[in-house]
Amino acid sequence: IEAHAKTVHKIRTLKQKHNVVMLGHNYMEPLVFGLSEKEEQGDSLGLSMYASKTEAPYLIFNGVPFMAETAKILNPSKTVLVADKTAGCSLADNYGAEDVKELKALYPGVPVMIYVNSYADAKAESDICCTSANAAHIAKMMPGDTIIFVPDILFAQNLEEELNKDNTARGAICEVHEKFTLDDLLGIRESFEIPKGHPCRKLYAHWECRPNVLKEADFYGSTSQIMKDIAERVAANQLERAFVASECELTSNLAQEFPEVQFWTACSVRCSHMAQVSLGKIAKILEAIDQNADLGEYEITLSPEVIDKARTPIERMLEASV
Ligand code: 13P
Ligand code: SF4
Repeated sequence: IEAHAKTVHKIRTLKQKHNVVMLGHNYMEPLVFGLSEKEEQGDSLGLSMYASKTEAPYLIFNGVPFMAETAKILNPSKTVLVADKTAGCSLADNYGAEDVKELKALYPGVPVMIYVNSYADAKAESDICCTSANAAHIAKMMPGDTIIFVPDILFAQNLEEELNKDNTARGAICEVHEKFTLDDLLGIRESFEIPKGHPCRKLYAHWECRPNVLKEADFYGSTSQIMKDIAERVAANQLERAFVASECELTSNLAQEFPEVQFWTACSVRCSHMAQVSLGKIAKILEAIDQNADLGEYEITLSPEVIDKARTPIERMLEASV
């Protein structure tokens, strides 16, 4: 604990000394999450918006590299750094630019909406980007009866059900959210006494879960939408118990913020990629900044062509979200 406290102190001191913005995704473990100011914490959409406006010279993105790429695209003059460039994502890693091109050739003229969980070169081939916080809204705005939504197959099926729009589902699956099955949720309702329709006990699910899991949930949304619903219910004194079918550290952060609520979670459902971000690695980035050392091990770099091409679908998304 003492070693952790010293590392946290060092990180905070260097962060302030060098005017570093430290973005923290909702899936960071509480110790890492707490390094970011409240306004620096959030979901993929909120963090992209924050990154696009910051004046700070350095941005450390505590999340996975595809998220940091979005920050770089929106604010290319800044130095964007991540604790571990090898951290992946089962969605982004399994669907690339060539896959998007292939699909466009198969369905000419059909708009391609790409989930933010993808790399910059795949975004560069797409018409509009979205996150889980705005996918339904953006899909509704798209012209025609059909859209191509990639790469999250389960999310695509969920959108299809919600919007009644034909959707050409191709791609990949989130290896974390696919773990929740309908049987799990029914078991959770019974074991933790969260019956459907209970006024103060709620079961939450992320958009990346299976369609039958979403149907069973009392509320579904992005990580920040889930947090917002919980905050509103707590403020209205209407939440005593909750289970969140999503990455488990989201629930750890919720439990810290809302101690009055009894939270249950599946501790084994941890994103191994998000877990690659640690206090020690973050401290090393800040030491490198402090010593004016080479930042190549941490820095997100993209070619000017990819930045230019990928910015259009991301900016279209931001315009559509406000
Ligand atoms: P949010 O957009 O809800 O932050 O989710 C990102 C993610 O990777 C979910 O698994
Ligand atoms: Fe990717 Fe799933 Fe991890 Fe999110 S939780 S970063 S979608 S693997």
